[in-house]
Amino acid sequence: MNAVPPAYRLSVAPMIDLTDRHCRYLHRQMSRHTLLYTEMVVAAALVRGGALRLLDHDPSEQPVAVQLGGSEPGELAAATRICVDHGYREVNLNVGCPSDRVQSGCFGAVLMRDPALVSDCLAAMREAAEVTGAGVRGAGVTGVEVTVKCRIGVDDQVPEEVLPAFLETVQAAGIHRVIVHARKAWLKGLSPKENREIPPLDYPLVLSMKRAFPDLTIIINGGIGSLATARELLEQGLDGVMIGRAAYHDPGEILLPADRLIFGSDTPDRSPEAVVAAMRPYIARHLAIGGRLGAITRHMLGLFAGRPGARSWRRSLSEAGSRPDAGLEALDRALEEILAAT
Ligand SMILES: Cc1cc2nc3c(=O)[nH]c(=O)nc-3n(C[C@H](O)[C@H](O)[C@H](O)COP(=O)(O)O)c2cc1C
Repeated sequence: MNAVPPAYRLSVAPMIDLTDRHCRYLHRQMSRHTLLYTEMVVAAALVRGGALRLLDHDPSEQPVAVQLGGSEPGELAAATRICVDHGYREVNLNVGCPSDRVQSGCFGAVLMRDPALVSDCLAAMREAAEVTGAGVRGAGVTGVEVTVKCRIGVDDQVPEEVLPAFLETVQAAGIHRVIVHARKAWLKGLSPKENREIPPLDYPLVLSMKRAFPDLTIIINGGIGSLATARELLEQGLDGVMIGRAAYHDPGEILLPADRLIFGSDTPDRSPEAVVAAMRPYIARHLAIGGRLGAITRHMLGLFAGRPGARSWRRSLSEAGSRPDAGLEALDRALEEILAAT
């Protein structure tokens, strides 16, 4: 049997308010191999102890990577140690997020202006990951990788100049894998949402970076809406593809066939119905400890996208999800409706 390609060949992007633990558990029911990312976790909040619950995850979510936001090397190192102790095997630094909240803390995309600081941050994180990982796993082998997610530039920067300089710097800091969101962030005047849509995508630039830095593992991100496009980009030489919104909103198209089409698995794709069945015991456990149905089912609205009955699935699940007392019977009813419509 051929070896399965590395998980980074396809990943679901970190997305605040979306890729929480319930979302990742759902995505894992759809693809065994795709790499999943947490939402961004602010390093300072972790170190102060306030955000530790954001690191909670089910072991079956693996492979799962945690993303940190920060720009203070000591703080990022301490946060990395906490993440490794929580079982994460990849810690990613966010150098791509343009939101005001993030800019005010001086992290995210604004760091594209300060590669030397990024380098210090990454070096500190690497050292922390190695020391902590060695403690966990013994002599020298850590298996904990530090990676970075960046833009091609910000504001008036010239991407053709800034991006290679940035990659050179992070490579010198010992980083082997970089995710490039293939558009600029405009830090003034655009909302975070507009910053994911308005600055034009530049895939050729990212492809040229792979040729210029053959030893770097380069993952492309931004605007990828189908596995066909993902496969084209892989065939052109990129090491991996990260998909955000399309994977979240249309997981049936992106995640259900991913193991077969991206990782070469010969196992038949799971059906959305089988995914609902696989989620049932997880949801039951969540309800039993006082959790709300909607916290999980809000991530399942797109499961049947494109199928007859998809709208009523979405409607009845959202209605049920907004009721604090809703239980599994609401999920079962929504499923019966969609089965009747098919
Ligand atoms: C709701 C939302 C939240 C996001 N939060 C993060 C985040 O926490 N960290 C990050 O690096 N990028 C974040 N992003 C950006 C995505 O990771 C990704 O780079 C972007 O959506 C482009 O990929 P796509 O076109 O495949 O969605 C977010 C995007 C969305 C839509």
